[in-house]
Amino acid sequence: MEAKLTREQANELLHKYVKGENYITHSYAVEAIMRGLAEKLAPEDVEYWGICGLLHDLDEETAPWRDDFGTHGPTSAKILRDEGFGDPVMENAIMAHNPACGKNPETQLEYALIAADPMSGFLKAIAQIYPDKKIASVKHKSVNKRFKETRFAAGANRQFMSLIEKAGMEWDEFVDVSLEALRGIADEIGL
Ligand SMILES: [Fe+2]
Repeated sequence: MEAKLTREQANELLHKYVKGENYITHSYAVEAIMRGLAEKLAPEDVEYWGICGLLHDLDEETAPWRDDFGTHGPTSAKILRDEGFGDPVMENAIMAHNPACGKNPETQLEYALIAADPMSGFLKAIAQIYPDKKIASVKHKSVNKRFKETRFAAGANRQFMSLIEKAGMEWDEFVDVSLEALRGIADEIGL
């Protein structure tokens, strides 16, 4: 799949609309996980899946989602269209990561994105437990253990993470791919 914008243009767009450092690093984290997932699930589309991850929260600081959660997703899609990068596949993937907007995930890409989003925050939360707070310290086993503790990082939607199986990947492989992806950009995102 050919994206309407390059990775560089996507990164510029991200920085144009999103200023908060936490949102930026979260976007990079989801991009890295999406690239890792694509390497296994859609090797032709690594760049495309990565850009979807990078831009999935593009409207975080502009959509009125605190008043109406359903605006998160469609507002990003509108930004893409207004900027001349309209792309139904990408817009749908971004909207489907927030089913509250009325778009449910249906495709492999959409399932991957809705699973990758909470996984990034979940792994970050686990890293915080360790004295060095590094993603390098996080073990696969502790990810599975914390997953079952529903009160731990309760904001990380377990149900969404589990949707990775609908994208065609087993849970344990998802954990490995995600850990490796975040380790690969650890310095960049302060993990
Ligand atoms: Fe997100």
